[in-house]
Amino acid sequence: MRDDAVGEILVQPDDLSRRVRELGAQITEDYHGRDLLLVGVLKGAVFFLSDLMRHIDVPCELDFMAVASYGSTTDSSGVVRILKDLDAPIDGRHVLIVEDIVDSGLTLQYLLRNLGARDPKSIEVCALLTKPERRKVSVEPRYVGFEIPNRFVIGYGLDHGERYRNLPYVAALVEGA
Ligand code: IMP
Ligand code: MG
Repeated sequence: MRDDAVGEILVQPDDLSRRVRELGAQITEDYHGRDLLLVGVLKGAVFFLSDLMRHIDVPCELDFMAVASYGSTTDSSGVVRILKDLDAPIDGRHVLIVEDIVDSGLTLQYLLRNLGARDPKSIEVCALLTKPERRKVSVEPRYVGFEIPNRFVIGYGLDHGERYRNLPYVAALVEGA
């Protein structure tokens, strides 16, 4: 796809698949002997989640949440609204939230509080990407794919105005292109 908005590639397809495999192996080891419930955060995490889940070798189930944060397209406000809730209760379950990216951390903080209040047996986070420089609240995912600099990124599930999710790599967005 030729598009002027697609800038420097920050994570190549090979690096994505290698890291996803490593994360799957780590999660498999950590959750050995336990059943796992993966909670994907729609829509950005879908690509990462479906690749990751195929590298997890413990009994696992899948559910989804969709949230929206009020704010501009590139900045979240911290006021989070649930667009789609989980299909089933999570009390007594080992929950792993799967996110595309942790930016300010506000969305994740909300999700951890909201799901944490439903009595899961454990709750952890696996994020493909993190932008530590942008953090406004302290939330640290247990599993992280890549730390990236403070740039708006697209691809492998991440969008700008709903586009570019289908890029097979993670690239910087060229703003105003
Ligand atoms: P936070 O609440 O500021 O941590 O923002 C989290 C959400 O904002 C993510 O789940 C993404 O949907 C979106 N987001 C943050 N940074 C980016 C980016 O660089 N590209 C695309 N989406 C982003
Ligand atoms: Mg988004």
